[in-house]
Amino acid sequence: MKVRIRRALASDAASVKALELAADLSPWSESDYREEAGREGSIFIVAEAEQIIGFILMRLITNSDDFCAAKTPQFHAEILNFAVHTTMRRRGLGSALLLSALAQGQNREVTRYFLEVRSSNLAAIGFYRINGFREIGVRRGFYSHPPEDAVLMECSGDKVLARVPPFGLVFDL
Ligand SMILES: CC(C)(COP(=O)(O)OP(=O)(O)OC[C@H]1O[C@@H](n2cnc3c(N)ncnc32)[C@H](O)[C@@H]1OP(=O)(O)O)[C@@H](O)C(=O)NCCC(=O)NCCS
Repeated sequence: MKVRIRRALASDAASVKALELAADLSPWSESDYREEAGREGSIFIVAEAEQIIGFILMRLITNSDDFCAAKTPQFHAEILNFAVHTTMRRRGLGSALLLSALAQGQNREVTRYFLEVRSSNLAAIGFYRINGFREIGVRRGFYSHPPEDAVLMECSGDKVLARVPPFGLVFDL
């Protein structure tokens, strides 16, 4: 099966919403996703075969310490939502999506990447570790429905330099 990794379009919003629901992620509305597809400060990528089978949404954040210190601001980025279709997992697609998002971050001079993940989501925590992230803290009671702590994870931009694939990757799954 040929899979294309590409930038998300507003017209992908319904498919992305369906993947989000199936993966039991923090809920965003379809119109939120439509907006993200056109937002300057977002990196929003989908994996497409005959249909959309994965997505990652990351947002750039300016490092406010740099503003305070009157330095040239550097960007950080936060992964906001991310899923691969249940039947397509453990074939490398999640890693391809993540690395494509990091490659885009690199082009935008992102120096650090952050994310929060439910503390019970051991699959995702294992996945992020394998892909260069490390745990840096816990946010108590961060999630609701059901209430749960968040594990905060971080990855330095330097660490991804040698590993990023070209954007627009097409590969066989
Ligand atoms: C997290 C997620 C995106 C990973 O996608 P994926 O396509 O399965 O990931 P990959 O195939 O690239 O996995 C790479 C490696 O991560 C680790 N990994 C992935 N899923 C794992 C699991 N369920 N248990 C343990 N390790 C896992 C493995 O080391 C895997 O390599 P391997 O298959 O050779 O052993 C996918 O599991 C998913 O959609 N989960 C539900 C939504 C979610 O939790 N999103 C993250 C919210 S922060």
